[in-house]
Amino acid sequence: MKTFELPPLPYALNALEPFISEKTLSFHYGKHHKAYVDNLNKLKEGTEFEDASLEVIMLNAGGGLFNNAAQVWNHTFYWNCMKPAAEVNNEPATELLEAIVKKWGSFEKFKEAFSVAAAGNFGSGWTWLVTNEKDELEIVSTSNADNPLRNDKEPLLVIDVWEHAYYLDRQNARPNYIADFWNIVDWEAVSARY
Ligand SMILES: [Fe+2]
Repeated sequence: MKTFELPPLPYALNALEPFISEKTLSFHYGKHHKAYVDNLNKLKEGTEFEDASLEVIMLNAGGGLFNNAAQVWNHTFYWNCMKPAAEVNNEPATELLEAIVKKWGSFEKFKEAFSVAAAGNFGSGWTWLVTNEKDELEIVSTSNADNPLRNDKEPLLVIDVWEHAYYLDRQNARPNYIADFWNIVDWEAVSARY
């Protein structure tokens, strides 16, 4: 049987400070993300998905198997949307930037709209920048483990708005966590997906 491993974090646990603390990353990556990987391995045992890829499970399974597979995928994607603040470009590459300006009027207005969506995403979930079926940019909020690939939308950027992503640093102040997030978005990686 295939066994999934916790993918390595693309930077050190303290690399996103002061915006995301080492303590948050050590719990979020080392406990939450790891638990999703462990649960996924347990739950797929003896099912038709025993040897399936993560994407196949995420797109086709239901219940706990889907939840854990999608959470593994979502967290890996989230880690790869961020980078230490000292290394990030402050804006997307030309092609993506032009598409953002076309859709929202300016890069600042896009960030505002995304922040409002993320702050208003009720309960636990994820807020995404995606390209939709018509290849247009769209901001999408999903609940719990859900992922836009299930609706034929291609993720470019995501923020985790589950409380475990920010409670140790910001307690209930999700908007502060979202404001911090903009300092560590890896626009180079996001642009490369467009
Ligand atoms: Fe999370």
